[in-house]
Amino acid sequence: MTMREKLELLQQRRAESQLGGGAERIKTQHEKGKLTARERLDALLDPGTFVELDRFVTHRSVDFGLADEKYLGDGVVTGYGRIEGRLVYVFAQDFTVFGGSLSEAHAEKICKVMDLALQNGAPIVGLNDSGGARIQEGVVSLGGYADIFLRNTLASGVVPQISAILGPCAGGAVYSPAITDFVFMVRGISYMFVTGPNVVKTVTHEEVDFDGLGGAEVHGATSGVAHFVHDSERDSLAAIRTLLSFLPSNNLDGPPLRASADPPDRRDDALLDVVPDTPAKPYDMHDVIRPVVDGGEFCEVHRDYAGNLLVGFARLGGRTVGVVANQPAVLAGVLDIAASLKGARFIRFCDAFNIPLVTFEDVPGFLPGVTQEHGGIIKHGAKLLYAYCEATVPKLTVITRKAYGGAYDVMSSKHIRGDYNVAWPSAEIAVMGPKGAVEILYKGEGEGGGGATEEREAEYREKFAHPYLAAARGYLDDIIDPRDTRPRLIDALATLETKRDKNPPKKHGNIPL
Ligand code: HXC
Repeated sequence: MTMREKLELLQQRRAESQLGGGAERIKTQHEKGKLTARERLDALLDPGTFVELDRFVTHRSVDFGLADEKYLGDGVVTGYGRIEGRLVYVFAQDFTVFGGSLSEAHAEKICKVMDLALQNGAPIVGLNDSGGARIQEGVVSLGGYADIFLRNTLASGVVPQISAILGPCAGGAVYSPAITDFVFMVRGISYMFVTGPNVVKTVTHEEVDFDGLGGAEVHGATSGVAHFVHDSERDSLAAIRTLLSFLPSNNLDGPPLRASADPPDRRDDALLDVVPDTPAKPYDMHDVIRPVVDGGEFCEVHRDYAGNLLVGFARLGGRTVGVVANQPAVLAGVLDIAASLKGARFIRFCDAFNIPLVTFEDVPGFLPGVTQEHGGIIKHGAKLLYAYCEATVPKLTVITRKAYGGAYDVMSSKHIRGDYNVAWPSAEIAVMGPKGAVEILYKGEGEGGGGATEEREAEYREKFAHPYLAAARGYLDDIIDPRDTRPRLIDALATLETKRDKNPPKKHGNIPL
């Protein structure tokens, strides 16, 4: 064969590999309203940057007639490409080949790109669409999953790991995405569960369909397994690009700087009117975050889960920050189990990847109740506290209103290594709210056994419900005009760019799980 003939053969083989399980199955995929693996990668990556690896890999099974049924690539498209010019490693499961099921060879391909991502310090993005373990292969498929889980764990905190669920993801297969940093799901096409509706019906007699058990809405709002939920695959893939624009490529890099047209010294008059004069009245903490950050852009994580705490990425003076904020508009911004878990995981991600934390605080305390106590609010709340305590990235805190009780300590207080802690004049820093305080202080006094009069409440408020006592102790670095929040934070962040802080050497801590 001449070189030209050999080249022609190569072209034929490449063209064959592009087709996955064949034109008919691609048609079926489209009829289900789903993109193919390659279309997904095209939408995810900068145009023309995808470099495929292992396109000629096939499975090695012979049982169940598989010796005669081989597809180039074996159900997963792997390689690397660029997002906004930065390197990322990718894999996209191809449902047109054995339902995207995971064979030994398929797992080896995923492991190869994971190893490269770890070695070269670049994020890994996995697009999942799979019927699970390749049933014809048995235990070697299970071994393949375990090889991936191990790599997910070793890569955790070293390179950002992102999973999009764009079809089925069931059984043990869910545990790879679960270990990754961010899970994206799409309404109507994604589902994740450990055991499906049939098994659930047999075991617990509960009737539930795929979507009701493990659809995007369920995981975005109820279980918190999904961090981002979208209406279409293209929205989801675009959102992965946006998320990555905030993140460093690995734990040794800083987040990318993005020059902003938003002036660093911009003061915003609107901030004067956000906090209502009546302490019990709610307001939306987004109305504080957006006017402060660059261009009002807030990439909110877990938007539909534990709405009493907001977390997400933004920029201040072009630098990425992780924002954690109590949300007075939901459950008065109280901390409960879900909010603690949400906050702790986010804070640990930011700390692992050198992303400074900016906390906006208005918190009345932890949520009382039997459900919370029996559900373990003690150990879950401790996770949030632990995460803030161990974080050595720059920590900036703005108290807008309430900072009561233990929640005051937890929310990035000075005592747990807050670097720059300020309050608005509307802040109330106290053991508890004035009403509760006088009810306890004057219990047993006055008519009907209670001396908690309005005057005494007012007296307590005047004495304690302000930021000046905390400032007098140095627990606050300053009390600021709300309009100065942005310039002050940007300036403080600049001073902290060279911050050095370390925890004592240890194998790892023992976060209360
Ligand atoms: C091999 C599979 C497969 C699998 C699907 N296919 N799942 N082949 N192993 N696990 C093949 C089908 O035979 C079919 O082949 C093609 O993929 C498309 O499947 P359909 O059933 O036609 O598609 P759809 O109707 O969309 O249903 C998708 C599905 C269903 C719900 C995922 O295929 C299904 O229930 N599959 C089995 C799921 C399962 O039990 N997996 C093992 C779970 S245990 P053709 O040739 O017709 O195109 C597990 C353990 C992991 O995963 C443990 C990790 C620790």
